[in-house]
Amino acid sequence: MRDTLFEDIEAVPSGYGSVHFDRDELIHLLSELRTQEDIAVLRNKTRELKRRIDLCDPAVLTDGRSDGNVVSLRKDVVSSELSQILEARTIERAKYYVKRLELGVKKVKTSAINDINLHRWKEYTEIITDSLWVLPKRDTTGAHLGWYWGNFIPQIPHQLMLRYTKRGDWVLDPFVGSGTTLIECRRLGRNGIGIELNEAVAQRARELVHKEKSRHQVKTEIFAGDAQLLIMHPPYHDIISFSDDANDLSNADSTSGFVRMFAEALDNWTPVLECGRYFGLVIGDKYSKGEWVPLGFHCMNAVLDRQYSLKSIIVKNFDETRAKREQKQLWRYRALVGGFYIFKHEYIFLFRKN
Ligand SMILES: C[S@@+](CC[C@H](N)C(=O)[O-])C[C@H]1O[C@@H](n2cnc3c(N)ncnc32)[C@H](O)[C@@H]1O
Repeated sequence: MRDTLFEDIEAVPSGYGSVHFDRDELIHLLSELRTQEDIAVLRNKTRELKRRIDLCDPAVLTDGRSDGNVVSLRKDVVSSELSQILEARTIERAKYYVKRLELGVKKVKTSAINDINLHRWKEYTEIITDSLWVLPKRDTTGAHLGWYWGNFIPQIPHQLMLRYTKRGDWVLDPFVGSGTTLIECRRLGRNGIGIELNEAVAQRARELVHKEKSRHQVKTEIFAGDAQLLIMHPPYHDIISFSDDANDLSNADSTSGFVRMFAEALDNWTPVLECGRYFGLVIGDKYSKGEWVPLGFHCMNAVLDRQYSLKSIIVKNFDETRAKREQKQLWRYRALVGGFYIFKHEYIFLFRKN
Protein backbone atom coordinates (compact mmCIF):
# COMPACT_ATOMS: atom_id res chain seq x y z
CA MET A 1 0.00 0.00 0.00
CA ARG A 2 1.37 3.44 -0.91
CA ASP A 3 1.11 6.45 1.38
CA THR A 4 0.96 8.83 -1.56
CA LEU A 5 -0.78 11.64 0.22
CA PHE A 6 1.94 13.06 2.36
CA GLU A 7 4.58 13.05 -0.31
CA ASP A 8 2.38 15.37 -2.38
CA ILE A 9 1.32 17.47 0.58
CA GLU A 10 5.01 18.02 1.36
CA ALA A 11 5.47 19.40 -2.11
CA VAL A 12 2.88 22.08 -1.37
CA PRO A 13 4.17 24.94 0.77
CA SER A 14 1.49 24.47 3.42
CA GLY A 15 2.86 25.05 6.89
CA TYR A 16 0.54 22.41 8.36
CA GLY A 17 1.96 20.15 11.03
CA SER A 18 1.66 16.41 10.79
CA VAL A 19 1.74 13.60 13.31
CA HIS A 20 3.42 10.30 12.60
CA PHE A 21 2.00 7.07 13.98
CA ASP A 22 2.97 3.48 14.03
CA ARG A 23 0.30 2.28 11.60
CA ASP A 24 -0.50 -1.02 13.35
CA GLU A 25 -0.71 0.63 16.73
CA LEU A 26 -3.07 3.30 15.47
CA ILE A 27 -5.25 0.76 13.66
CA HIS A 28 -5.40 -1.25 16.88
CA LEU A 29 -6.41 1.83 18.89
CA LEU A 30 -9.12 2.76 16.40
CA SER A 31 -10.51 -0.76 16.17
CA GLU A 32 -10.73 -0.78 19.98
CA LEU A 33 -12.79 2.40 19.78
CA ARG A 34 -14.96 0.96 17.00
CA THR A 35 -15.85 -2.12 19.02
CA GLN A 36 -16.78 -0.25 22.23
CA GLU A 37 -20.37 -0.66 23.40
CA ASP A 38 -20.29 2.07 26.02
CA ILE A 39 -20.31 5.61 24.61
CA ALA A 40 -18.76 7.03 27.81
CA VAL A 41 -15.74 4.69 27.49
CA LEU A 42 -15.46 5.43 23.78
CA ARG A 43 -15.48 9.17 24.52
CA ASN A 44 -12.87 8.84 27.31
CA LYS A 45 -10.49 6.87 25.11
CA THR A 46 -11.01 9.30 22.21
CA ARG A 47 -10.42 12.28 24.50
CA GLU A 48 -7.19 10.70 25.72
CA LEU A 49 -5.99 10.03 22.16
CA LYS A 50 -6.84 13.59 21.11
CA ARG A 51 -5.05 15.03 24.15
CA ARG A 52 -1.93 13.08 23.29
CA ILE A 53 -2.06 14.13 19.64
CA ASP A 54 -2.63 17.77 20.54
CA LEU A 55 0.37 17.61 22.88
CA CYS A 56 2.27 15.40 20.40
CA ASP A 57 2.99 12.85 23.13
CA PRO A 58 5.65 10.56 21.67
CA ALA A 59 3.98 7.59 23.37
CA VAL A 60 1.21 7.52 20.77
CA LEU A 61 3.57 8.49 18.03
CA THR A 62 6.54 6.74 16.53
CA ASP A 63 9.40 7.91 18.70
CA GLY A 64 11.19 9.22 15.62
CA ARG A 65 11.05 5.87 13.79
CA SER A 66 10.59 6.11 10.06
CA ASP A 67 10.16 2.57 8.75
CA GLY A 68 7.50 1.55 6.23
CA ASN A 69 4.92 1.11 8.95
CA VAL A 70 4.68 4.79 9.76
CA VAL A 71 1.56 6.66 8.75
CA SER A 72 1.52 10.46 8.73
CA LEU A 73 -1.68 12.41 9.24
CA ARG A 74 -2.29 16.13 9.19
CA LYS A 75 -2.51 17.09 12.84
CA ASP A 76 -5.33 19.66 12.57
CA VAL A 77 -7.46 17.28 10.48
CA VAL A 78 -7.06 14.23 12.72
CA SER A 79 -7.68 16.41 15.77
CA SER A 80 -10.92 17.75 14.26
CA GLU A 81 -12.04 14.23 13.29
CA LEU A 82 -11.55 13.14 16.90
CA SER A 83 -13.58 16.17 18.03
CA GLN A 84 -16.33 15.05 15.67
CA ILE A 85 -16.32 11.61 17.33
CA LEU A 86 -16.51 13.28 20.74
CA GLU A 87 -19.46 15.42 19.65
CA ALA A 88 -21.47 12.52 18.17
CA ARG A 89 -24.76 12.11 20.04
CA THR A 90 -25.17 8.38 19.49
CA ILE A 91 -22.70 5.50 19.70
CA GLU A 92 -23.59 4.46 16.13
CA ARG A 93 -22.68 7.90 14.81
CA ALA A 94 -19.43 7.96 16.85
CA LYS A 95 -18.48 4.51 15.52
CA TYR A 96 -19.23 5.64 11.97
CA TYR A 97 -16.72 8.51 12.36
CA VAL A 98 -14.14 6.14 13.90
CA LYS A 99 -14.59 3.75 10.98
CA ARG A 100 -14.06 6.58 8.50
CA LEU A 101 -10.85 7.61 10.24
CA GLU A 102 -9.68 3.99 10.35
CA LEU A 103 -10.28 3.61 6.61
CA GLY A 104 -8.04 6.62 5.91
CA VAL A 105 -5.25 4.99 7.93
CA LYS A 106 -5.66 1.53 6.39
CA LYS A 107 -6.35 2.23 2.74
CA VAL A 108 -5.46 4.48 -0.15
CA LYS A 109 -8.21 5.19 -2.68
CA THR A 110 -7.22 7.12 -5.79
CA SER A 111 -8.86 7.74 -9.16
CA ALA A 112 -7.31 6.95 -12.54
CA ILE A 113 -6.08 10.50 -13.12
CA ASN A 114 -4.40 11.70 -9.92
CA ASP A 115 -2.86 10.63 -6.62
CA ILE A 116 -5.40 12.27 -4.31
CA ASN A 117 -6.24 9.80 -1.54
CA LEU A 118 -10.02 10.10 -1.44
CA HIS A 119 -10.16 8.48 1.99
CA ARG A 120 -8.26 11.50 3.30
CA TRP A 121 -9.67 14.21 1.06
CA LYS A 122 -10.02 16.66 3.94
CA GLU A 123 -6.24 17.01 4.15
CA TYR A 124 -5.92 18.54 0.68
CA THR A 125 -6.94 22.05 1.60
CA GLU A 126 -4.36 23.49 -0.83
CA ILE A 127 -6.21 22.04 -3.80
CA ILE A 128 -8.71 24.48 -5.26
CA THR A 129 -12.11 23.11 -6.28
CA ASP A 130 -13.94 26.40 -6.98
CA SER A 131 -14.17 28.00 -10.40
CA LEU A 132 -12.98 31.39 -9.13
CA TRP A 133 -9.27 31.51 -8.38
CA VAL A 134 -8.17 34.56 -6.48
CA LEU A 135 -4.46 34.05 -5.97
CA PRO A 136 -3.06 37.01 -4.09
CA LYS A 137 0.59 36.53 -4.95
CA ARG A 138 2.76 34.44 -7.17
CA ASP A 139 5.00 31.67 -5.87
CA THR A 140 8.53 33.07 -6.11
CA THR A 141 10.33 30.21 -4.38
CA GLY A 142 13.17 28.14 -5.90
CA ALA A 143 13.73 28.66 -9.63
CA HIS A 144 10.50 30.63 -10.06
CA LEU A 145 12.04 34.03 -10.66
CA GLY A 146 9.12 35.56 -12.57
CA TRP A 147 11.60 37.24 -14.95
CA TYR A 148 9.66 36.58 -18.16
CA TRP A 149 7.08 39.07 -19.30
CA GLY A 150 3.99 37.07 -20.18
CA ASN A 151 4.62 34.13 -17.85
CA PHE A 152 1.86 32.59 -15.78
CA ILE A 153 1.94 32.15 -12.07
CA PRO A 154 3.34 28.77 -10.98
CA GLN A 155 0.20 28.00 -9.02
CA ILE A 156 -1.66 27.37 -12.30
CA PRO A 157 0.40 24.36 -13.50
CA HIS A 158 0.80 23.30 -9.87
CA GLN A 159 -2.96 23.06 -9.32
CA LEU A 160 -3.58 21.39 -12.68
CA MET A 161 -0.93 18.74 -12.06
CA LEU A 162 -2.25 17.86 -8.62
CA ARG A 163 -5.76 17.41 -10.00
CA TYR A 164 -5.03 15.83 -13.37
CA THR A 165 -1.80 13.84 -13.14
CA LYS A 166 -0.19 11.10 -11.12
CA ARG A 167 3.43 11.04 -10.08
CA GLY A 168 5.54 9.94 -13.08
CA ASP A 169 2.95 11.07 -15.66
CA TRP A 170 4.02 13.21 -18.63
CA VAL A 171 3.02 16.86 -18.96
CA LEU A 172 3.37 18.66 -22.28
CA ASP A 173 3.54 22.46 -22.55
CA PRO A 174 4.01 23.58 -26.17
CA PHE A 175 4.26 27.31 -25.24
CA VAL A 176 6.61 26.80 -22.34
CA GLY A 177 8.20 30.29 -22.29
CA SER A 178 10.31 30.60 -19.14
CA GLY A 179 9.68 27.00 -18.09
CA THR A 180 7.20 27.55 -15.24
CA THR A 181 5.44 24.28 -16.03
CA LEU A 182 8.68 22.30 -16.08
CA ILE A 183 9.85 23.73 -12.76
CA GLU A 184 6.55 22.57 -11.24
CA CYS A 185 7.03 19.16 -12.89
CA ARG A 186 10.31 18.79 -11.05
CA ARG A 187 8.73 19.72 -7.75
CA LEU A 188 5.81 17.39 -8.09
CA GLY A 189 7.59 14.44 -9.65
CA ARG A 190 5.98 14.66 -13.08
CA ASN A 191 7.92 14.27 -16.31
CA GLY A 192 7.68 17.33 -18.50
CA ILE A 193 8.33 18.42 -22.04
CA GLY A 194 8.32 22.03 -23.12
CA ILE A 195 8.44 23.58 -26.57
CA GLU A 196 9.37 27.22 -27.11
CA LEU A 197 9.79 29.07 -30.40
CA ASN A 198 12.20 31.68 -29.11
CA GLU A 199 15.61 29.99 -28.72
CA ALA A 200 17.05 32.61 -26.33
CA VAL A 201 14.06 32.21 -24.03
CA ALA A 202 14.24 28.43 -24.33
CA GLN A 203 17.94 28.47 -23.34
CA ARG A 204 17.35 30.59 -20.23
CA ALA A 205 14.39 28.38 -19.30
CA ARG A 206 16.54 25.26 -19.70
CA GLU A 207 19.16 26.66 -17.31
CA LEU A 208 16.60 27.66 -14.71
CA VAL A 209 14.63 24.44 -14.87
CA HIS A 210 17.77 22.49 -14.07
CA LYS A 211 18.53 24.78 -11.15
CA GLU A 212 15.29 23.61 -9.54
CA LYS A 213 16.30 20.80 -7.21
CA SER A 214 14.21 17.68 -7.56
CA ARG A 215 14.01 14.76 -5.19
CA HIS A 216 12.15 12.80 -7.86
CA GLN A 217 13.62 10.82 -10.72
CA VAL A 218 11.89 12.77 -13.48
CA LYS A 219 12.82 13.93 -16.93
CA THR A 220 12.04 17.48 -17.86
CA GLU A 221 12.98 17.60 -21.53
CA ILE A 222 12.94 14.28 -23.34
CA PHE A 223 9.63 13.08 -24.53
CA ALA A 224 8.84 9.39 -24.73
CA GLY A 225 5.32 8.16 -25.33
CA ASP A 226 1.95 9.78 -24.67
CA ALA A 227 1.23 12.71 -22.38
CA GLN A 228 -1.32 12.68 -19.56
CA LEU A 229 -1.77 16.44 -19.26
CA LEU A 230 -1.52 19.12 -21.92
CA ILE A 231 -1.10 22.70 -20.72
CA MET A 232 -1.25 25.51 -23.28
CA HIS A 233 -0.55 29.11 -22.42
CA PRO A 234 -0.33 30.76 -25.84
CA PRO A 235 0.27 34.47 -26.41
CA TYR A 236 -2.93 36.46 -25.87
CA HIS A 237 -2.66 37.36 -29.56
CA ASP A 238 -0.65 40.58 -29.91
CA ILE A 239 -0.93 41.93 -26.35
CA ILE A 240 2.75 41.09 -25.91
CA SER A 241 5.00 40.73 -28.96
CA PHE A 242 7.26 37.78 -28.16
CA SER A 243 9.41 37.78 -31.32
CA ASP A 244 9.54 38.72 -35.01
CA ASP A 245 9.04 35.12 -36.10
CA ALA A 246 6.07 34.69 -38.45
CA ASN A 247 5.19 31.44 -36.68
CA ASP A 248 4.84 33.25 -33.36
CA LEU A 249 1.15 33.40 -32.46
CA SER A 250 1.67 36.95 -31.25
CA ASN A 251 2.33 37.93 -34.88
CA ALA A 252 -0.98 36.61 -36.24
CA ASP A 253 -2.45 39.28 -38.53
CA SER A 254 -6.01 39.10 -37.16
CA THR A 255 -8.12 37.49 -34.47
CA SER A 256 -9.24 34.76 -36.85
CA GLY A 257 -5.62 34.23 -37.93
CA PHE A 258 -4.64 33.89 -34.28
CA VAL A 259 -7.36 31.32 -33.60
CA ARG A 260 -6.32 29.42 -36.73
CA MET A 261 -2.68 29.27 -35.56
CA PHE A 262 -3.79 28.22 -32.09
CA ALA A 263 -5.93 25.45 -33.59
CA GLU A 264 -3.01 24.26 -35.74
CA ALA A 265 -0.80 24.02 -32.66
CA LEU A 266 -3.56 22.12 -30.87
CA ASP A 267 -3.92 19.72 -33.81
CA ASN A 268 -0.17 19.13 -33.61
CA TRP A 269 -0.29 18.11 -29.98
CA THR A 270 -3.69 16.46 -29.55
CA PRO A 271 -2.49 13.10 -30.94
CA VAL A 272 0.04 12.70 -28.11
CA LEU A 273 -2.51 13.31 -25.33
CA GLU A 274 -4.05 10.10 -24.05
CA CYS A 275 -7.83 9.79 -24.46
CA GLY A 276 -9.71 10.49 -21.23
CA ARG A 277 -6.98 12.84 -20.00
CA TYR A 278 -7.01 16.60 -19.55
CA PHE A 279 -6.05 19.73 -21.42
CA GLY A 280 -5.75 23.06 -19.57
CA LEU A 281 -5.84 26.19 -21.72
CA VAL A 282 -4.76 29.40 -19.99
CA ILE A 283 -5.76 32.53 -21.89
CA GLY A 284 -7.05 36.06 -21.43
CA ASP A 285 -9.08 38.38 -23.64
CA LYS A 286 -8.03 41.62 -25.24
CA TYR A 287 -9.46 45.01 -26.00
CA SER A 288 -9.02 46.52 -29.46
CA LYS A 289 -10.51 49.50 -31.29
CA GLY A 290 -13.21 50.03 -28.66
CA GLU A 291 -14.25 46.38 -28.57
CA TRP A 292 -13.74 43.49 -26.16
CA VAL A 293 -12.23 40.62 -28.14
CA PRO A 294 -13.08 37.34 -26.39
CA LEU A 295 -9.95 35.41 -27.39
CA GLY A 296 -10.64 32.88 -24.64
CA PHE A 297 -14.07 31.95 -25.94
CA HIS A 298 -12.90 31.91 -29.57
CA CYS A 299 -10.18 29.42 -28.61
CA MET A 300 -12.62 27.45 -26.46
CA ASN A 301 -14.91 27.05 -29.48
CA ALA A 302 -11.98 25.89 -31.61
CA VAL A 303 -11.18 23.23 -29.00
CA LEU A 304 -14.82 22.14 -28.79
CA ASP A 305 -14.86 21.68 -32.58
CA ARG A 306 -12.33 18.92 -31.95
CA GLN A 307 -12.43 15.74 -29.89
CA TYR A 308 -12.71 17.44 -26.50
CA SER A 309 -15.46 18.05 -23.96
CA LEU A 310 -15.54 21.03 -21.64
CA LYS A 311 -15.08 20.22 -17.95
CA SER A 312 -14.68 23.67 -16.35
CA ILE A 313 -14.20 27.35 -17.02
CA ILE A 314 -12.12 28.82 -14.23
CA VAL A 315 -11.88 32.56 -13.81
CA LYS A 316 -8.60 33.62 -12.25
CA ASN A 317 -7.70 37.06 -10.98
CA PHE A 318 -5.16 38.81 -13.11
CA ASP A 319 -1.95 40.19 -11.67
CA GLU A 320 -1.77 43.89 -12.49
CA THR A 321 1.30 44.70 -14.54
CA ARG A 322 3.60 47.29 -12.97
CA ALA A 323 2.74 49.72 -15.77
CA LYS A 324 -0.97 49.35 -15.09
CA ARG A 325 -0.48 49.73 -11.32
CA GLU A 326 1.42 52.97 -11.82
CA GLN A 327 -1.29 54.29 -14.12
CA LYS A 328 -4.26 53.01 -12.13
CA GLN A 329 -6.11 56.35 -12.11
CA LEU A 330 -5.48 56.90 -15.81
CA TRP A 331 -6.91 53.45 -16.61
CA ARG A 332 -9.94 54.17 -14.44
CA TYR A 333 -10.51 57.40 -16.31
CA ARG A 334 -10.13 55.59 -19.65
CA ALA A 335 -12.64 52.95 -18.55
CA LEU A 336 -15.17 55.58 -17.55
CA VAL A 337 -14.75 57.43 -20.85
CA GLY A 338 -14.58 54.33 -23.04
CA GLY A 339 -17.48 52.47 -21.42
CA PHE A 340 -15.43 49.36 -20.68
CA TYR A 341 -14.18 47.45 -17.67
CA ILE A 342 -10.50 47.00 -16.89
CA PHE A 343 -9.29 43.43 -17.30
CA LYS A 344 -8.81 41.80 -13.93
CA HIS A 345 -9.20 38.17 -14.93
CA GLU A 346 -8.09 35.48 -17.31
CA TYR A 347 -9.42 31.98 -17.96
CA ILE A 348 -8.33 28.45 -17.39
CA PHE A 349 -10.44 26.23 -19.63
CA LEU A 350 -10.38 22.58 -18.68
CA PHE A 351 -11.12 20.02 -21.41
CA ARG A 352 -11.15 16.26 -21.46
CA LYS A 353 -10.01 14.47 -24.59
CA ASN A 354 -12.71 12.05 -25.73
C1 LIG B 1 2.17 33.43 -22.84
S1 LIG B 1 3.79 32.89 -23.10
C2 LIG B 1 3.95 31.44 -22.12
C3 LIG B 1 4.61 31.72 -20.81
C4 LIG B 1 4.85 30.52 -19.93
N1 LIG B 1 3.60 29.91 -19.49
C5 LIG B 1 5.69 30.91 -18.71
O1 LIG B 1 5.23 30.76 -17.56
O2 LIG B 1 6.80 31.42 -18.92
C6 LIG B 1 3.66 32.26 -24.73
C7 LIG B 1 4.99 31.73 -25.29
O3 LIG B 1 4.72 31.08 -26.51
C8 LIG B 1 5.83 31.29 -27.39
N2 LIG B 1 5.33 31.03 -28.75
C9 LIG B 1 4.63 31.83 -29.58
N3 LIG B 1 4.34 31.17 -30.73
C10 LIG B 1 4.83 29.91 -30.60
C11 LIG B 1 4.83 28.76 -31.45
N4 LIG B 1 4.27 28.78 -32.65
N5 LIG B 1 5.40 27.63 -30.95
C12 LIG B 1 5.99 27.59 -29.73
N6 LIG B 1 6.04 28.67 -28.90
C13 LIG B 1 5.46 29.81 -29.33
C14 LIG B 1 6.28 32.71 -27.10
O4 LIG B 1 7.63 32.92 -27.47
C15 LIG B 1 6.06 32.80 -25.58
O5 LIG B 1 7.23 32.45 -24.89
